[in-house]
Amino acid sequence: MTAAINELILRQPDDWHIHLRDDVALAVTVPHVAHQFARAIIMPNLRPPVTTVAAAQAYRDRILAARPAGSDFDPLMTLYLTDTTSPEEIVKAKASGFVKAVKLYPAGATTNSDAGVSAIEKTYPALAEMAAQGVPLLVHGEVTDPAVDLFDREAAFIEQVLKPLLNKFPDLRVVFEHITTAEAAAFVRSAGDRVGATITAHHLLYNRNAIFQGGVRPHYYCLPVLKRERHREALVEAATSGAKQFFLGTDSAPHAKLTKEAACGCAGCYTAGEALQMYAMAFDAAGALDSLEGFASLHGPAFYGLPVNERKVVLRRVPSTVPTGYPYINGDTLVPLEGGNTLPWSFAHV
Ligand code: DOR
Ligand code: ZN
Repeated sequence: MTAAINELILRQPDDWHIHLRDDVALAVTVPHVAHQFARAIIMPNLRPPVTTVAAAQAYRDRILAARPAGSDFDPLMTLYLTDTTSPEEIVKAKASGFVKAVKLYPAGATTNSDAGVSAIEKTYPALAEMAAQGVPLLVHGEVTDPAVDLFDREAAFIEQVLKPLLNKFPDLRVVFEHITTAEAAAFVRSAGDRVGATITAHHLLYNRNAIFQGGVRPHYYCLPVLKRERHREALVEAATSGAKQFFLGTDSAPHAKLTKEAACGCAGCYTAGEALQMYAMAFDAAGALDSLEGFASLHGPAFYGLPVNERKVVLRRVPSTVPTGYPYINGDTLVPLEGGNTLPWSFAHV
């Protein structure tokens, strides 16, 4: 038996999928992400969505203004793909330098997706330009047909949308975001280097029982929803395998407490403040702490063609307690996923 690792020094990770929201919410969310991560891919599902480079630039400026003093956190921006996104906007996005990708939300799939894509064919002109410009497409990979069981929507998306799309655009680079199933992990592996995938900490740590343990637990509800244990195991295998296609994306998604703990609660788990301690738990449970740096700090920059971070951070096997809540907008509270619990790991800068 090898001795337990009690201290892990890593190049500072990046978060390749996060929701920060806007305006006063940024005062809470930006310090959290900027503490743990050097860079993050910022989701564009605001109201209204970030559909133009001009809107992305203004949003980026608001995020930069919310950074703590001295922080050099770098927000990597995305555009929200619609039925009418023009090839010209894609050219502008590439030229901007700060827009790194375009996000596909099938209309109705999740939070603020009603302006999303109603039929994938409508986006072909934009996708062709993205393939030509080397701008990656990030996909929320769930079909929206209400006749398809909620737990089957990701697997159906692979067959109905993703495979045909990759065949139609052989040069398009794609990130399958927040994968939740064995089918998605296997598909990504089989698809070659031009397809990457992000995996959240919560999908590595929990299966769908967590949503119903002793009663309905709304803070464990997100989309795509947590799946069966065999899927969680497949995700852990993918994340810890060392395969370069898999990288860290928290999908941290803040919603005020009153909108989570409600008759119709919003989807999203807030993990930005404690994400790395949670990933360390998942990798430690798999006996794979030595593969955390690749997943968290190396594979993402390689996919996006960006340099790795020089700064180092440390995870120590020293317990840390997650706050029960953070003051949030309109006097409400933001409840982190592990709120009130003690995690076995602590995070610090070196
Ligand atoms: O759970 C989720 N929350 N899934 C998403 O796809 C969107 C996100 C949000 O924006 O709240
Ligand atoms: Zn998301």
